[in-house]
Amino acid sequence: MKGGKKMLKYIIEGGNRLEGEVEISGSKNASLPIIASTILNQGKTVLYNVPEIHDTKMMFEILKELGGSVIKKNKKYIIDTSNINRFEISENLMRQMRSSVILAGALIGRYRKAVFSYPGGCDIGARPIDLHLKNFEKLGINISKNYGNIICSCDKINGEKIDLEFPSVGATENIILAACLADGTTVITNAAMEPEIIDLQKILNRMGAKIKGAGTNKIEIQGVNQLKKEVKYNIMPDRIETGTFLCGAAITGGNIIIKNTNPIEISPVISKLEEAGCKIETKKHEIEILAPRKLKCVDIKTMPYPGFPTDMQSIFVATLTIAKGTSIIVENIFENRYKYVQELIKMGAKINIEGKVAAVKGVRKLYGSNVKAEDLRGGAALVVAALASKRKTNIENIEYILRGYENLDKKFNNLGAKIKIVNEGG
Ligand code: EPZ
Repeated sequence: MKGGKKMLKYIIEGGNRLEGEVEISGSKNASLPIIASTILNQGKTVLYNVPEIHDTKMMFEILKELGGSVIKKNKKYIIDTSNINRFEISENLMRQMRSSVILAGALIGRYRKAVFSYPGGCDIGARPIDLHLKNFEKLGINISKNYGNIICSCDKINGEKIDLEFPSVGATENIILAACLADGTTVITNAAMEPEIIDLQKILNRMGAKIKGAGTNKIEIQGVNQLKKEVKYNIMPDRIETGTFLCGAAITGGNIIIKNTNPIEISPVISKLEEAGCKIETKKHEIEILAPRKLKCVDIKTMPYPGFPTDMQSIFVATLTIAKGTSIIVENIFENRYKYVQELIKMGAKINIEGKVAAVKGVRKLYGSNVKAEDLRGGAALVVAALASKRKTNIENIEYILRGYENLDKKFNNLGAKIKIVNEGG
């Protein structure tokens, strides 16, 4: 991020085994659609366990820009959207955070209108929203485009049968939000099954919605007249943050206990780490990992939930750079999610990319270097690699990482890491 803006970087001194306990924050990817869902509720919504990260702060800013009120009291957010009187999400905000497209479904659901710009691609791919738009039209929403803006409007929303060509998380969430106050029932088949969608269903039903099936590939939304309840909700823990700390322990031969988490939601990562030689014990809200001195190579294929999560691909590849043998990784979800690899190679990793396949040949050691984060999870991968590297690693552009992780440096330092944040900006 240039132009005199803050240029924050991490300086990480690697080589320490991680030991101790860490508490996981609330889920970024559950928080964003849940914050959008408060637009549908005419009553006040109180949210607990919202992670203090850039993306949630941005969502609250957008709610306020639309006329909503957001009051932070101790650790909770009190949200009142009854005075929303604007329905346009500015291009600048959409550019800063493409996941703000999730507000469209809620705005249309409540006010029958929304204007937003194409979120545009980002660091991991084109990120189209064709599945969102084509299914909005199926619900009876008129969509027109001018000068890059998308204008959605309708008199009423008609419940419909919708079959998703791909189990898109965002499209599933946006259709649910738009269909809560529809005339009639909407049934989504081939729906995404991610746990964050179960969290969204839970809070919407507390507001008075009638939704069932989240977590399966068939979700039914029976339209109701209004949502008007005083709702309190505790956001689920972040399963990708959990996976990030598991990998931090794995790459440093560490032994940590992860608290405030849900092991079931990260089970594909747990089984792959066990295959790599880690000993893992789980309780209802806790995971203990004991890593071997040397990890074994494993093969990974990212898939929609409940398969191995694409958000853990880069972080797991970083972990495998010093494993024994060669690991084969296939990224099946996003078309451009290997940008971080060139940075790992600067640190001594041996990785070959052929299309969506990465071959990671384990090396004895990584060496600290000057590297750059280019997206959220790619940046997290560089942090994990730096924890096990000899010498110091400088990671620039850590604003990407701060979008999705709350106090990542402090949490790792409490486990024995040596991470410093430095502001190099003007
Ligand atoms: C959500 O993004 C997550 N973001 C992503 O996490 C996550 O990687 C992704 O789901 C997959 O699990 C949030 O929840 C805020 P998709 P989303 O729609 O909804 C294609 C992170 O690091 N597609 O399931 O955008 C798309 O191009 C972020 O926390 C279409 O073709 O993901 C991609 O290839 C990164 N047309 C695939 O589907 C569409 O209309 C999966 O995308 C929509 C998506």
